[in-house]
Amino acid sequence: MSDVRKHCCYTQDTQKELVKGIFSTISVKYDFLNHLLSFGQDISWRKRTISSMRFFSTMRCIDIATGTGDVAFEVANKYPSVSVDAIDFAMPMINEAKNKYKKHGNNLNINFQYGDATKLNFPDDSFDVAIISFGIRNIPNKQKALNEMARVIVPGGQAIVLEMVSHQNKVFKTLYQWYLCYGLPFIANIFSQNRKAYEYLSNSIVHFPSIKEFQSMLQKSGLKQVKSVGMTLGITRMFVGIK
Ligand SMILES: C[S@@+](CC[C@H](N)C(=O)[O-])C[C@H]1O[C@@H](n2cnc3c(N)ncnc32)[C@H](O)[C@@H]1O
Repeated sequence: MSDVRKHCCYTQDTQKELVKGIFSTISVKYDFLNHLLSFGQDISWRKRTISSMRFFSTMRCIDIATGTGDVAFEVANKYPSVSVDAIDFAMPMINEAKNKYKKHGNNLNINFQYGDATKLNFPDDSFDVAIISFGIRNIPNKQKALNEMARVIVPGGQAIVLEMVSHQNKVFKTLYQWYLCYGLPFIANIFSQNRKAYEYLSNSIVHFPSIKEFQSMLQKSGLKQVKSVGMTLGITRMFVGIK
């Protein structure tokens, strides 16, 4: 059994280290492969999600599992009066984000730093918006990460999760799972020579909780008015809950 296939048998700490290792090895090619494997759709998914943000109190946003920082850059560009804290636990991803910042974003209000989604280093009620984009599926203890998002936003603030989910329609689901399990790792291997990493990522989409289960997890973290919107035939969803 490969490391990727047996990840379900690991402890949560070991899974975390596995995920950290994967993102540390693909950081340089991440943006290119992300756009390629989603056929460029990831850009509009992020834009649409960010346009639903509401800033009204602290004028601060936390981008959790920021990776190479695309959400943070988009938020800072769209809302110049908002300051963004962008955290990730894979330093090579953060370093890529910092390189992009030096090239294109020097005037933007973003602070990239190390941080773990399950133990945020911020006081309660610090942000108007907490967002995690394509990150939650890689976190073994999703409930803990959602609880942390709810904790750090102000009353009335938004916790937003953007994520790729398994599809509801049986025929589409079969085709999509074929793409995830064979097509995506095959293409990723050509460009990154890291098939295992992308097999793991595909696996994490296939095993993501159902929409109903995930919405219950958001409610369990204390969030109200939980709703979700599907994008691109429902392969990606934006979940929103209010504190
Ligand atoms: C698929 S990337 C998403 C990056 C970015 N948010 C985007 O929209 O493209 C997932 C990121 O989650 C990060 N990550 C996974 N588990 C984490 C955790 N427990 N704490 C912080 N970052 C985590 C990984 O290091 C990786 O950079």
